[in-house]
Amino acid sequence: CLSPELVGSFDLSGKLVVVVDILRATTCMVTALAHDVAQILPVATLEECQPYCQRDGFVTAGERNGIQLAWMDLGNSPLAYTSGDYAGKTVVMSTTNGTLALDRSRAADQVIVGAFVNLKAVTEYVKAQSRDVLIVCAGWKGMVNLEDSLFAGALVDRVEGEFQHETDAPLVVQLMYRQAAADLSGTVYRSAHVRRLHNLGIKDDIDFCLTPSLFSLIPVLQGAALVPLSD
Ligand code: MLT
Repeated sequence: CLSPELVGSFDLSGKLVVVVDILRATTCMVTALAHDVAQILPVATLEECQPYCQRDGFVTAGERNGIQLAWMDLGNSPLAYTSGDYAGKTVVMSTTNGTLALDRSRAADQVIVGAFVNLKAVTEYVKAQSRDVLIVCAGWKGMVNLEDSLFAGALVDRVEGEFQHETDAPLVVQLMYRQAAADLSGTVYRSAHVRRLHNLGIKDDIDFCLTPSLFSLIPVLQGAALVPLSD
């Protein structure tokens, strides 16, 4: 599913959904939980996020069009979590596309979060499934984007042979990934969102978001919250 706009075309019941927003929402989610954030409440709208502002134990985070809202405690940089300063907190996160993609996927049997930073762990988890798997790419405002599609391709490439694809989208992204694999970051650097982040002076996040398998943690939706998937 290359855009959250297409989620409605799929029957989510009984499926494992892997939500992907490489730059940067799902990379943030993995990084935050890997640095001991207690849980993440992903919310689609700013109206749902703002009431948590200044509340004890909560941290508000996210962006619109890449830019942190003035009232938010944090923007959408995964690097913000690496100091461990938010350990034990509940992060309430609202982003342009990533949290929307999660919101649209809630009807699935199980929803997990994927990013290059936990690619190996997600691959192993997906390989072990006997149920159908749907990769939901967050894209950009309803449109397909390069970096999420490449992640989907990387995942398809690694689980090939274990699944039969119902549509041609998995094949499309796999072929694309194979074409790009020798220079993945060079390819992603041509994407629209890298250009947007560069224009905002946000450069350090990009290489971090493209680093494969830094963490073995997989965030899973449990009720309204993302928490680490236990073994
Ligand atoms: C998104 O949800 O599209 C991303 O979080 C955007 C970003 O981090 O710049």
